[in-house]
Amino acid sequence: MSLLPILEFPDPRLRTVAKPVDVSKVTGDEFQALFDQMFATMYDAPGIGLAASQVDVHQRFMVIDVSEDQSNPLVFVNPEILERDGEQVYQEGCLSVPGIFADVTRANTIKVKAVNRQGEEFELDADGVLAVCIQHEMDHLDGKLFVDYLSPLKREMVRKKLAKAAKNK
Ligand code: NI
Repeated sequence: MSLLPILEFPDPRLRTVAKPVDVSKVTGDEFQALFDQMFATMYDAPGIGLAASQVDVHQRFMVIDVSEDQSNPLVFVNPEILERDGEQVYQEGCLSVPGIFADVTRANTIKVKAVNRQGEEFELDADGVLAVCIQHEMDHLDGKLFVDYLSPLKREMVRKKLAKAAKNK
């Protein structure tokens, strides 16, 4: 299966606010193929989450698998957080910001509502790394990156580091 190119910070396309998915199309060939390609791209990277925005598809969906053995692939279409509680700090990374890791504070537990790849609505209570990952990927759908939570000085350091790495490719 062909892998999808992942947009990298500071590509302005990562700032696009994604549009809601027409849920009646989720079970169609086009979306099903995209889900498969996004999982393949994410596993290959390797990563634990990938938002459509990162592969230049500006619709509200993302794929996640926080298992160790690729055994729990989750598709979230039109995700919405219904409840959030507590705080946790987790050292995040992002396939669109390669080689950069930084502590981000997010809700500790969340209740999320979304549509799965069968086109069915579901609700999920998440904590730990899954809760972090869902919040991180949902940010992508709003054009937001985890480096936005850093101080301007630190973010500028990240930008310079990535520009240098890109030059040396
Ligand atoms: Ni990311």
